[in-house]
Amino acid sequence: MACIYIPWLLFTQILLQLAKHEAKVPAIIVFGDSTVDSGNNNRISTLLKSNFKPYGRDFAGGQPTGRFSNGRVPPDFVSEAFGLKPFVPAYLDPNYGISDFVTGVCFASAGTGYDNATSDVLNVIPLWKEVEYYKEYQNKLRAHVGHNKATEILTEALYLISLGTNDFLENYYIFPRRQIQFTVQQYQDFLVGLSENFMRELYSLGVRKVSLTGLPPMGCLPLERATNFMGHHDCVEEYNNVAVEFNLKLSNMVARLSQELPGYRVRFTEEVYQLVYQMIRTPSKYGFDVAEVACCSTGTFEMSYLCSEANPLTCSDANKYVFWDAFHPTDKTNKIISDNLIPDLLKLFN
Ligand SMILES: *[C@@H]1O[C@H](CO)[C@@H](O)[C@H](O)[C@H]1NC(C)=O
Repeated sequence: MACIYIPWLLFTQILLQLAKHEAKVPAIIVFGDSTVDSGNNNRISTLLKSNFKPYGRDFAGGQPTGRFSNGRVPPDFVSEAFGLKPFVPAYLDPNYGISDFVTGVCFASAGTGYDNATSDVLNVIPLWKEVEYYKEYQNKLRAHVGHNKATEILTEALYLISLGTNDFLENYYIFPRRQIQFTVQQYQDFLVGLSENFMRELYSLGVRKVSLTGLPPMGCLPLERATNFMGHHDCVEEYNNVAVEFNLKLSNMVARLSQELPGYRVRFTEEVYQLVYQMIRTPSKYGFDVAEVACCSTGTFEMSYLCSEANPLTCSDANKYVFWDAFHPTDKTNKIISDNLIPDLLKLFN
């Protein structure tokens, strides 16, 4: 019998080795804002933080990590689906080092945007600085695994990019500076130009596989509804229209870049807008009870330090809510969004 089993064992081991070498996405690398930040803001001096309870209460071990959610954010689900870690560690987190970042790293910072003026509002990491950190990471990775192996990882990695909401809701519509300078359509064009420069810079640094996410129906975020007195606390139509227009412009820019830059594979995830909009309009279809307000505290305006564990109004089951705090989705919403994208990402990039 042994003589039958030994070749079989060898065979399966060879297959396993082959599978290992053919895992085409060796790392998940993340740029963006709070939709994807896994804890970088913990290490900088900003008021925009979430490394305390009740944030993270449904994360592994119930720990608050600096994710703006009760649990995970989309890159965590994507990483797990690609057979990598079930979470993507933050670059500035001192608990992790380059050996952890071989399979993925997050440079995102809550509150940031394409526009430098946006990251200035809450003193968070500007997008250009995320790129500086990425360059530093490239050097550390080369020192750690060798030049050739590092190049392979950096080229084959899947890059997840998600930002833009703060440019409108934390900057343009709040402060006069950009409004004096630009109409909202001109501001969209300005941001798409910044996005294009950023995408070109990543390409020049060797990035080849990208999933770019545009704007959600940002007029339906609980904070925006709470202040929509004229509209009886329904979604702010103007903000949703701006999101749709901006996404179309972003999508055209991405199509143009993919034509122009050889080997650049960019997936613009335009369906996220509609999916989130459907969850908000027909929450019961997705197993939710509440979409108008968030789980945390009164669910209307609280986030960061205002979202407090002591508030007796904080809901007990976040899975019943589309939104966790006034600006951010629950773990369950993030999972639904991710599950919707993952089959296509696996097909395109793995
Ligand atoms: C943003 O700031 C960085 C650093 O000061 C600068 O290099 C870059 O040109 C600025 N971007 C814009 C669009 O002003």
